[in-house]
Amino acid sequence: MRSLTLLLAATLSHLATASLQIVPGGTWTTPDGEHLQAHGAGLIQVNGTYYMVGEDKSGGHSFSNVNCYSSTDLVQWTLVGAILSRQGSGDLGPNRVVERPKVIYNDRTKKYVLWMHMDSSNYGEARVAVATGDSVCGRYQYIRSFQPLGRESRDMGLFKDDDGKGYLLTEDRKHGLRIVALSDDYLSPTTDVFSWRLEGGNRVEAPAMIKLGRTYFMFASMMTGWDANENQYTTSTSLSGGWSGWKKFADNGSKTYNSQTTYILKTSESSAIYLGDRWLKDNLMASTYVWLPLSISGTSVTMKNFVSWVPTANFASWQNPPAENSYEGERATYEGKARNIDCSTCSNKVAAGYIGGPDNGKVTFSGIRSDIDGLTTIRIKFLNGDSKPRYANVSVNGDAGRKVAFLPAKGDPASSTLHARLRRGTDNVVVIEGWNGGWGPDIDRLMVPVQ
Ligand SMILES: *[C@@H]1O[C@H](CO)[C@@H](O)[C@H](O)[C@H]1NC(C)=O
Ligand SMILES: *[C@@H]1O[C@H](CO)[C@@H](O)[C@H](O)[C@H]1NC(C)=O
Ligand SMILES: *[C@@H]1O[C@H](CO)[C@@H](O)[C@H](O)[C@H]1NC(C)=O
Repeated sequence: MRSLTLLLAATLSHLATASLQIVPGGTWTTPDGEHLQAHGAGLIQVNGTYYMVGEDKSGGHSFSNVNCYSSTDLVQWTLVGAILSRQGSGDLGPNRVVERPKVIYNDRTKKYVLWMHMDSSNYGEARVAVATGDSVCGRYQYIRSFQPLGRESRDMGLFKDDDGKGYLLTEDRKHGLRIVALSDDYLSPTTDVFSWRLEGGNRVEAPAMIKLGRTYFMFASMMTGWDANENQYTTSTSLSGGWSGWKKFADNGSKTYNSQTTYILKTSESSAIYLGDRWLKDNLMASTYVWLPLSISGTSVTMKNFVSWVPTANFASWQNPPAENSYEGERATYEGKARNIDCSTCSNKVAAGYIGGPDNGKVTFSGIRSDIDGLTTIRIKFLNGDSKPRYANVSVNGDAGRKVAFLPAKGDPASSTLHARLRRGTDNVVVIEGWNGGWGPDIDRLMVPVQ
């Protein structure tokens, strides 16, 4: 009886978290109330927890931090801390470029080994740099920067094979993309394994590799700077040769849904998730994350676009989100100076404006339906005409409120994700007001999963 109860409880709790969603291109607020700052990221799984290491662009283009976040569900990410931070001078000093940090674990030395693209502000140095950490998300010891085997290196990736050997994937502008073997401690490049001559369809950068079964899959973007293009992949059963021609995997003409590969997360021997950056080159901190499930069959890879999707079965599968109800800002209850504003791109061409500010404009959405008790992802559709994020204090069912970020968004309403518990019934309440007297975004509507 007891075990049956436990089983039932476990099943219910699984169902109750079944609709946490990944929202490609959304503002992803972390518990510190800021948009997740891990651009050009890589992931590593340790003891059932995922860690994401990426570039903190909150201070602009030049290096300030390599951040590390953790998650057990791939949706809710918590900032653990910076693993490298700007120093007074040197490689990590002011006006430096640090991009695409990636971490792999070395079983022999028991160190986490971090590689990154290291450069001067005009990208003239074209180096890699290496650092090591004793814990995955702790402070790393910076070691050195250099050109691998004496060659230029800009976009880079790392790959740890299932036999424990490590590889650097490096874009050498004088030659092309290369796979270079690493020493046993992963701290130095040793020998060339393969390269693609930089010509025609081989003009690729932003490499990322996985191995499924016996097949290696290499993903990369074409070379169009910060602008998105039709990313490609190639497969082989050997790292040193036999690679197929590069092929697209996203819908033709979509420019990979306006994103660039940064990492491919293997989730089983036959499944993987694409992690891309949607760069905003004039305001890099506002760049968003385009994560989408790959469909892999043999050596064929395709990827469809989704407004949002729900990872399932230990992330090896996915579902479309449950049916949603929408709740219009202009039908919510206003307080303070909050009021209707014209919004030609919003549903009904109206949004709720003047949220926050000196009079603390406030909108209360009542009568929100959920068919389950549990954690779900609400998409707040909004506009923000500023070049900086705006923030709101969002309270759900009378809780203490949380700081939610809203990236710059002109034109069509963007989505900001709110992961919150709803209760079964039709009386859920979401209150959106200013954060510490600041102006909030304009709210078009809430998209709320029914289950
Ligand atoms: C993983 O978990 C085990 C058991 O709890 C612990 O001994 C070990 O230190 C953990 N490893 C890491 C890298 O955190
Ligand atoms: C892909 O799109 C381009 C231009 O948009 C077009 O020329 C080409 O024929 C398309 N390819 C396929 C396979 O549909
Ligand atoms: C956020 O809202 C809650 C609930 O209305 C309130 O208690 C809290 O003081 C607010 N916090 C901030 C920083 O505005």
